[in-house]
Amino acid sequence: MPGKKILIVDADVASRNFVARKLLEQNFEVIQCGSGKEGLIYAWRDHPDLIIVDPVMADLKGEEIAIKLKQDPRTTNVPLIALSGDQSHLRLKSCLDAGFNEYIIKSGQAVATLNETINRLFGITEEIMKQGGLLIIFLSAKGGTGTSSLCANFAMNISQHQPEMRVAVLDFVLPIGSIAPIVGYQGGQNIVTVTDMSPDDTTPEFFRHELPHMNIWRFNLLAGSPDPESSNQLKVGRIWDIVTAVKASYDYVLIDIGRSLSKITLPLIQHADIVTLVVGTDISTVSLTKTLWDYLKSKGVHSDALYTILNRAVGLEGLSKVDAESMLGITVNKSIPYLGTNFAFANSHHQPFSLKFPKDTASIIFQDTAKEMSALAQKLRSG
Ligand SMILES: Nc1ncnc2c1ncn2[C@@H]1O[C@H](COP(=O)(O)OP(=O)(O)O)[C@@H](O)[C@H]1O
Ligand SMILES: [Mg+2]
Repeated sequence: MPGKKILIVDADVASRNFVARKLLEQNFEVIQCGSGKEGLIYAWRDHPDLIIVDPVMADLKGEEIAIKLKQDPRTTNVPLIALSGDQSHLRLKSCLDAGFNEYIIKSGQAVATLNETINRLFGITEEIMKQGGLLIIFLSAKGGTGTSSLCANFAMNISQHQPEMRVAVLDFVLPIGSIAPIVGYQGGQNIVTVTDMSPDDTTPEFFRHELPHMNIWRFNLLAGSPDPESSNQLKVGRIWDIVTAVKASYDYVLIDIGRSLSKITLPLIQHADIVTLVVGTDISTVSLTKTLWDYLKSKGVHSDALYTILNRAVGLEGLSKVDAESMLGITVNKSIPYLGTNFAFANSHHQPFSLKFPKDTASIIFQDTAKEMSALAQKLRSG
């Protein structure tokens, strides 16, 4: 769960580092210290969202720490977990009485129990993820397959087909975003400047009013990183909060992650309503896509949520739909023909393809695809 800070207070360095590593793997921000007194200082100074304390410590007992934290307005509402080597029932009771929310015994099961407990205390349940706008992720195994062009154009078609719906497009491609040049956005706001803002300011209201509207594109845009240097400054821990806030203000949230699959983007893919996989028609791209899809499957992404597009971006040659399907082992939902230089032409004029070439059959394919995608997302959401 990116965007949440956890403080670990434990005198046992090995145990502390072990827990810290497990939490870092889940994109939590972790701070740690080895004594009770430091624990109190860190808790009041660094505003953690959750505190894990080993109650067996030399300077202050866990129970004393819990009482102090619960009495102080800065930490009275912060969830407290005791992670303890003491298996006695007496200790468990005295810790819970002192204000710990949970008591977990250090054992082989501890990490699993800890994860489950943290998620529960943070209220991160499937229920929560199912709230807010429909999340549609666009990704590919290779650059140049048409992911950004299709993301922008489908967003436009979804919005045109359902004018009452609010549609946002977020560009998370690192190190340089590419939606802004397609839609002709030149403003200074982007994913890097927004993640730099205080969490108190990046509210659903902020995104509702401050994401620029791209007029003929009919969606609001959070532009991508303008250059690699800015992308190095990106506060990745904020991404999760930002997506949640945007989801709270829009009916559809389309995110272009291009080929930037990473620790940061994986949780988004895992919680997406639809994962749109854009595949090129050459053998090497299809085979890379197979590797990508096998990985996503191993991470719990379900093929029900998968929407596969075979896009003939580079020319007439290449694999057929049937060939691609048999190589990938999945159904291709839509094939997009080679559009010659028209697509690049529409992009360079910052115009949606279907406005520039309304009579082209591809415009009809785009409309159909947008309808199909939104229907699928709604159907999956309603269970
Ligand atoms: N079906 C297509 N026919 C012709 N050109 C295409 C097609 N799909 C994409 N393109 C062109 O390919 C180029 C790369 O597309 P882009 O969306 O930037 O890919 P990606 O985001 O995957 O790197 C663009 O110039 C785009 O116009
Ligand atoms: Mg791109």
